[in-house]
Amino acid sequence: MPTHARIETAIAAALARHRRGRHPGRLADALEHAVLPGGARIRPTICLSVARACGDDAPELSTAAAAAIELMHCASLVHDDLPVFDDADIRRGKPSVHKAYGQALAILTGDTLIIQAYDALAEASLSDPYRGIQLSRTLTRYSGMPYGICAGQAWESEAQVDLHAYHMAKTGALFMAATTMGAIAAGEDPEPWIELGARIGEAFQVADDLRDAIMTQDELGKPVGQDEAHDRPSAVAQYGIEGATRRLDDILGGAIASIPSCPGEAQLCEMVRAQAQMIMPVSLDQRAG
Ligand code: IPE
Ligand code: IPE
Ligand code: MG
Ligand code: MG
Repeated sequence: MPTHARIETAIAAALARHRRGRHPGRLADALEHAVLPGGARIRPTICLSVARACGDDAPELSTAAAAAIELMHCASLVHDDLPVFDDADIRRGKPSVHKAYGQALAILTGDTLIIQAYDALAEASLSDPYRGIQLSRTLTRYSGMPYGICAGQAWESEAQVDLHAYHMAKTGALFMAATTMGAIAAGEDPEPWIELGARIGEAFQVADDLRDAIMTQDELGKPVGQDEAHDRPSAVAQYGIEGATRRLDDILGGAIASIPSCPGEAQLCEMVRAQAQMIMPVSLDQRAG
């Protein structure tokens, strides 16, 4: 089954569970609003690409890992948009979950998606509990504290911010989860795959900072100019647009060079190049071309 179909089928199956029996319908609606239709699904795509490059001998595990990462990502976006964080009204071109369903249901939507992410892993783990536990622990490492999304968001509440640690935890972490969980699902040592995730994550955050600075809300489907408005540390604030663009190119070159040797290495290089093209802010892309 093609990568995209594997991801969407697994996510749809996870969501379908919420409709069983008597259930609060508005929370079920809000969960679907948060997850469907998706954004770029870049993290699960990377996870499955790494698994495939490593032989993908347990596809039920790699599919569950990919779905769990995307559910965790969607949860982080729902919470990130809340008034106490970024107070964003629009996400993926439509009202953010708290705008459409209210804050109480938005908090519960994020919570439920996190729980659902672990349930997807637990269900698939029955076939290989050792790999399953490694997958759960890796998702925890890169979602929580001190290395994960929770830590990343918490850097915004500190008086002094270390830009590298902030970006690594806020954004890089889930990309490291994607590469290492792809390797674990296929029975490989995750360690050599950390660097690829870290570099893609860093590139992605620089690209996101550039998009925030130079693109429009209509192009992006979410508010722009947020880093400046919230006085947030960003690659553009630190290096300027030209400097951040050069940095993006350097990091992407390093990402491709860091791919560990594996049976599917050439295909994986192609995937990273294709994803790099997708994250390039539109006007920079046009300037280059
Ligand atoms: C947005 O991530 C949040 C950041 C970490 C910068 P994406 O740009 O991957 O969001 P979607 O999933 O495609 O909407
Ligand atoms: C969101 O970061 C990253 C999360 C961990 C949720 P931002 O706040 O910078 O990203 P957008 O612009 O809302 O997607
Ligand atoms: Mg934010
Ligand atoms: Mg935000």
